[in-house]
Amino acid sequence: MARRTYRGTDIEVTFDDDLCIHATECVRGLSEVFDRDHRPWIRPDDAPAEQVSMVVERCPTGALTYRRLDGQVDERTRPVTVVTTVENGPLVLRGDLVVRRTDGQLERLPRAALCRCGRSGNKPFCDGSHLAAGFEAAGAMQAPAPQLSPRGAIAVDPTVPGAP
Ligand code: SF4
Ligand code: FES
Repeated sequence: MARRTYRGTDIEVTFDDDLCIHATECVRGLSEVFDRDHRPWIRPDDAPAEQVSMVVERCPTGALTYRRLDGQVDERTRPVTVVTTVENGPLVLRGDLVVRRTDGQLERLPRAALCRCGRSGNKPFCDGSHLAAGFEAAGAMQAPAPQLSPRGAIAVDPTVPGAP
């Protein structure tokens, strides 16, 4: 599914259902704007743009992004990429990410959840399949943090299964 745009007066929110793993940050954070039981399910004008942008930035997967239409600053690109692990789940990246989808399309994202279990049907992104697969892995990093925090944009390319 293509990324859809929900335009308000002061802010425009985009949503890609293929990247959403239902972490519910949006619905819990601002239920008057993000409500799965209503159509459209995103209503950017139902809260101040500042609050909408704060909640969008909490979306761990990059499913939600925004653009301010009121002259205020958009989401700042982080100069350092930060990688964290979700226990029994994906890698969560925040930074300046250029991710190649399986169809070859490149997308620049400020946030992304990448598959760590190998079962996703939407690699390199996590699609929630780790739950059904019963994937188990600790949330702690094994390698030193500096190696995992490169400066500048980083590229994410899906690899062939089994490749080193
Ligand atoms: S915060 Fe992002 S990943 Fe979580 S439910 Fe909302 S859109 Fe989906
Ligand atoms: S870690 Fe979520 S599908 Fe692989």
